[in-house]
Amino acid sequence: MGKVFAVTSGKGGVGKSTVSVGLGVAFCRQGKSVLLVDMDEGLRCLDLMLGVEKETVLDLSDVLCGRELEDALYSCPLHPNLKLIPAPADTGKIDAFSFATFAKEATETFDIVIFDFPAGIDISLYSSLPKGSLFLTVAVPDPVSVRDAAAMALQISKAELYARLIINRFVYKQSLKMKHKNIDGIIDTASLRLVGIVPESEELVMLSVAHSLKKRGKAMAAFSRIARRLDGEHILLPKIKKI
Ligand SMILES: Nc1ncnc2c1ncn2[C@@H]1O[C@H](COP(=O)(O)OP(=O)(O)OP(=O)(O)O)[C@@H](O)[C@H]1O
Ligand SMILES: [Mg+2]
Repeated sequence: MGKVFAVTSGKGGVGKSTVSVGLGVAFCRQGKSVLLVDMDEGLRCLDLMLGVEKETVLDLSDVLCGRELEDALYSCPLHPNLKLIPAPADTGKIDAFSFATFAKEATETFDIVIFDFPAGIDISLYSSLPKGSLFLTVAVPDPVSVRDAAAMALQISKAELYARLIINRFVYKQSLKMKHKNIDGIIDTASLRLVGIVPESEELVMLSVAHSLKKRGKAMAAFSRIARRLDGEHILLPKIKKI
């Protein structure tokens, strides 16, 4: 059985899709087979980020209606072990029952399955994921987003699911002027265990042009650390100034 991660946030635009792709590339470079599932019905974007938008014919809704899983898989040209199932182009196509069957099959087929959820909380779909799935709540270091992560953490724990925190778009100098003066303050307010910090990065803004990350860049280093932690390794946080 592969590992399942669900990338979520209450509010939009905090970097869920960017984090999903970054983690997908990191796991892939660590030798894993990875499936990215775009859950953002009507507003899909992972096909653009991975550079497969011209090839996509089938999507998640076709698999939920009975098409073979492999018919709707698209390989990232730069990382053949990184596959995508695009989100349905229209809304209202994902029902919890067939989604649960699909999620189970995906977990049996891949080492790592990453669900990139849209903003908002959808407990019925979250609860349809295989047991042991880990929710990765993404927040940026501003107080609104951190409070949002706390609300998400509460809902997820009420549903008896497990979540961790990823802080995205971190800038050391900015962080000194913010309400939460340090990472501990963010963790305390969000009430979630931290699994990693991703820096603000020009390279990540350009992801839908490059479709990958430089092997030795700061962004890749951050995603590699997170992927290794999620794989059970004990990886220390680097000095906060160096993230
Ligand atoms: N670490 C980062 N450094 C710089 N830019 C980033 C970073 N993370 C995300 N961005 C930028 O922020 C914007 C939103 O990112 P993204 O689409 O990943 O967010 P999202 O949470 O998936 O949004 P939505 O809620 O609409 O699905 C994009 O322009 C992306 O390039
Ligand atoms: Mg997104």
